[in-house]
Order: sequence, then structure tokens, then C-alpha cells
Amino acid sequence: MPRQSPSVPRRARNDLRQYDDLAHTWWDPYGPFCSLHWLARSRAKLVPAAPPEGGRLLDVGCGGGLLAPHVHGYEHVGVDLSDAGLAVAADHGIEAVKADAADLPFDDASFDVVVAGEILEHVTDLDATVAEALRVLRPGGTFVCDTINDTLLARIVLVTLGERIHGGPPPACHDPALFVDPERLQRLCAAGGVALEVHGIRPQPLRFAAFALGRRTTVEMVRTRSLATVYQGVGVKSGARL
Ligand SMILES: C[S@@+](CC[C@H](N)C(=O)[O-])C[C@H]1O[C@@H](n2cnc3c(N)ncnc32)[C@H](O)[C@@H]1O
Repeated sequence: MPRQSPSVPRRARNDLRQYDDLAHTWWDPYGPFCSLHWLARSRAKLVPAAPPEGGRLLDVGCGGGLLAPHVHGYEHVGVDLSDAGLAVAADHGIEAVKADAADLPFDDASFDVVVAGEILEHVTDLDATVAEALRVLRPGGTFVCDTINDTLLARIVLVTLGERIHGGPPPACHDPALFVDPERLQRLCAAGGVALEVHGIRPQPLRFAAFALGRRTTVEMVRTRSLATVYQGVGVKSGARL
């Protein structure tokens, strides 16, 4: 059953213009990005409390700014390539900057926290994207990410099935060729000074069923032992605080 409105153009897999096409739906809890709301809330739990004097948080691939309601006390800067997404993020209090995640326009060590939520599986230069995220993170700062593993199960659950069910990703959102092996991600993070701890996450099944029946607007994400589909990572950058 097609999930996409006929007014939305058909795009190739991972064509980033999809984020402009769908920008009006970012904050719809039942819209095509609904699962990103659940993930943003879960991701925010890995972000340390802001220091009393405040801090700077970079949200790489911020999209429509869904992380904004869940993090407090930070100057929240978001980068993205989607103009329409950045406009929505700015409306939700994010300092929106148009930039490629692989070439960030920020000084070294200029953020206390760098978050990369559901973007790493969309970039064509993963090495540069991770290197840039960790370059701008200060020593002692925290890197938080979530992404999709490069497994057959992830392809089945998130592409073959997921794109056909309400609560899954929008059609053609992902190119499975870009899915991210966690060991590769950990190696890239280690090269940038971050020992990344990873754990799997999935929607809580009963809550997901209630969402699918229209009885809930959100679904809690819970941890799993398996990294085979969606996983989160968190780590602190080595070195003394500058
Ligand atoms: C799946 S969305 C995730 C958005 C947000 N992080 C969230 O979880 O709600 C991926 C976002 O990454 C952005 N993106 C993809 N490739 C990018 C790149 N190379 N540089 C900056 N943003 C990028 C897209 O425009 C899109 O807004």
C-alpha cells in the first residue's frame, strides 16, 4: 500500500530533496518522520546535563529540529543541507546553519556536545563526517549518535517492510548501501579520540501497537542486546578540557 501522498515527487533512494518535499511534516507526530520523534527523545537521554554556565551543542543533520524540546541549557546549533528543514528547525529555537556535515564551518573544539542523529546512514563520506563531528568537539565533550546497521535484517525491517508500514521511514528515504557497520563507526570514532559505546534500540512493541491503532502519539524506544538494526552510540572525547 503506497504511504506517500501523490503530491510528493518520487525520488531516488537517499535523494536529499526528500527533506525539502516533506519539510511541512517534520512536527506531525503521525507523519512520515514520526519515528524520528521517538528517536530524538531517546537520543536526548544520552546528552549530559548542560553546565550551569551553559554550553554549546551541535546537532549534525538537524532536520526540522526534533531534538530541540528534549535538550535544555545549551546553545543549540543545527547544521543541515535542507533549506526547508533548517527553516523549520529555526522556528523551534535552533541556530540553523546550512553546511555539509563533511565540511563543518566551525572551529576545532568549539562544542561541548556533538549529536549526529539518523544522519550517518545518509552521508556519502562517512569518514569525513565523523572526523568533522569529532574535530569540532572539545576534549572532554560528548559525542552522541544513532544510525542503522549494515545488515540484511536492517534492510528487511527498515526498507522492505518499514517503508510500507505507518511508523516506518518514508519511502526511498534510505539507501541501504550507506548503512553503517558499528565496528567501522567505532574505528572512525577512535581515530577522533572517542571510544564509542554502542547498544541496540527498538520501539517498545505494545506502545508501537497502540501507536499503530491511533491510541498513542509517541512510542518509547527501548534498549536491545542486538545491534542488528538501529543502534545508538555515546562516547567522551579524550584529552583535557581546553
Ligand atoms: C533522517 S533525517 C534526521 C534529522 C534529525 N537528526 C532527526 O533525527 O530528526 C537526516 C537529515 O540529515 C540531513 N543530511 C543528509 N546528508 C547531509 C549532509 N551531508 N550534511 C548535512 N545534512 C545532511 C538531511 O537533510 C536530513 O535533514
